[in-house]
Amino acid sequence: MNTATRALRSASRQRFCVRLPQTTTAAHPLIRLTTARAIHSSRNAQTQTWPDKNTSPEPREHPNADQKPRIDENIGRKHFGDFNVAGKVFVVTGGAQGLGLTMAEALVEAGGKVYALDRSPEPDEQWAEAISRAVPEHGGSLHYRQQDVSDTTHLDELITAIADENQRLDGVVAAAGVQQVTQALDYTPADVARMLEINYTGVFMTAQSAARQMFRYKTRGSICLIASMSGLVANKGLLSPVYNSSKAAVIQLARNLAMEWSPVREDGTGGIRVNCISPGHILTPMVLKNFEEVPGLRETWEGENMMGRLAETTEFKGAVLFLLSSASSFMTGNNLIIDGGHTAW
Ligand SMILES: NC(=O)c1ccc[n+]([C@@H]2O[C@H](COP(=O)([O-])OP(=O)(O)OC[C@H]3O[C@@H](n4cnc5c(N)ncnc54)[C@H](O)[C@@H]3O)[C@@H](O)[C@H]2O)c1
Repeated sequence: MNTATRALRSASRQRFCVRLPQTTTAAHPLIRLTTARAIHSSRNAQTQTWPDKNTSPEPREHPNADQKPRIDENIGRKHFGDFNVAGKVFVVTGGAQGLGLTMAEALVEAGGKVYALDRSPEPDEQWAEAISRAVPEHGGSLHYRQQDVSDTTHLDELITAIADENQRLDGVVAAAGVQQVTQALDYTPADVARMLEINYTGVFMTAQSAARQMFRYKTRGSICLIASMSGLVANKGLLSPVYNSSKAAVIQLARNLAMEWSPVREDGTGGIRVNCISPGHILTPMVLKNFEEVPGLRETWEGENMMGRLAETTEFKGAVLFLLSSASSFMTGNNLIIDGGHTAW
């Protein structure tokens, strides 16, 4: 073992507490890599309060007790109060239409203040209907902000501004996503990068920006990533290799973010739950476009699940409310598959 390798092993054992000699650091590529990682991770110092930034906090040191229902709580008298999100503030990306908009509306219906973010300059006509359905007595409200999730700098600024304005951020739903129907042999690197930039990086950075604000305001937040059953199976009849693998990546991302952010830390931050929803085929503008592109696809898909039909967006309202409210207080790192039995046979 040469001197540089010995120094590297020793540094890694001591979790970067050792100062390596300048000459050794420059000479050994492995050490350069390790040091670069340590420097990079300091970027988020404001949200990482545990001493070692390269290990996950130990949950048993600070059990997440304040999310646990109190033993003296008279749960039966609360009329499903666990689902009440009155006074809470949420961000939903992809909220101009389709599943994102319906999920935003569900949170409003339960009393939340919801900011729908989307790259479209204006939400679609369903927005006006959602606004007209809102019941003022329930206390919720719906707000629109144009935002492309691939502009991660502005995304972070916007989510920071929303949290500052409300002095809290309780939850985020990362639903912005795109589909591209192309056979694998024809995919270009640029197409792959564009899909991943929105479906994976955009989701990751949305969750990261939200988590930063939850750490800052010490809110026990909940993060819901919208994956898909397409992250678990190939879609019969639809050539979408990158979409499907981007959704598989999102399912795996949720587990890892949950591991890092769910434990409560010594300074009281953390306790942020992260989960996924993986829907089956839903009748949204995205899927209606697929039906135009591939004749017979609707019939194929209807025959592929145990219920013989496709879903409406409203069939996911309960799931998002469950995940973003204290009704799911013991759930993190999970993937809720709601697909009419599609992946069960
Ligand atoms: N429809 C389905 O069958 C289905 C199934 C499983 C998962 N999903 C997922 O649900 C989510 C919503 O899909 P949908 O079916 O409602 O699709 P949709 O196309 O109707 O809505 C997607 C929304 O995301 C927005 N968006 C796209 N790129 C964006 C970007 N870069 N920045 C900000 N906003 C952006 C679009 O403008 C649109 O308003 C997606 O993540 C999708 O992959 C959909």
